[in-house]
Amino acid sequence: MQADILSKLKSSAESCYMCSLAETRKKAVFGEGPFDAPAMLVGEAPGADEDELGRPFIGRSGRLLSSLMEEAGLPREKLFITNMVKCRPPENRLPARKELEACRPYLLAQIAAIRPLLVLAVGNVPARAFLHTGEGITSLRGKFYTAELEDFPFMVRPVFHPSYLLRNRSVEEGKPVSVTLADLQEARKFLEKAIPGF
Ligand code: URA
Repeated sequence: MQADILSKLKSSAESCYMCSLAETRKKAVFGEGPFDAPAMLVGEAPGADEDELGRPFIGRSGRLLSSLMEEAGLPREKLFITNMVKCRPPENRLPARKELEACRPYLLAQIAAIRPLLVLAVGNVPARAFLHTGEGITSLRGKFYTAELEDFPFMVRPVFHPSYLLRNRSVEEGKPVSVTLADLQEARKFLEKAIPGF
């Protein structure tokens, strides 16, 4: 049932022309992971590598994120990984408001089908969208928030975007890399508590 809904949604995203990103994309990046994943990870938008291969977070920043997830005991295969917009914005710019709006139905339908307990909001764009705030990720991260979709509540944990970590590579305590690792560990603990055997 979930698999069916998501596979139809994927085909529809792959032939979507609801915004102008369709004109420049090579491949739409719908997302990947278990259809019944207890958690989703939502980034901003696909980059060049993702656009080429049609998979989320597989470029340089994705590899860093994946290795931090692995270190935190939260391997990426256990989560459903996607982005706010499914097609690459040219020059890797941030997605525009119109593009976010055009793509929102896909994300909402993904959340409604997967019904995650937790969403990791990666970077400013998803953190602000999920938490309905203009505040930045630096003040938002480090906490769990509650969100709701169609009477279905879930938690949101904002984390720094890995491209920011690539520009701030110190692994000293208190710096972005180590606080992100701590955020991911908190997310893993939350899931372990909620789902025995996670
Ligand atoms: N950055 C994102 O936000 N998402 C990706 O899939 C890759 C890079």
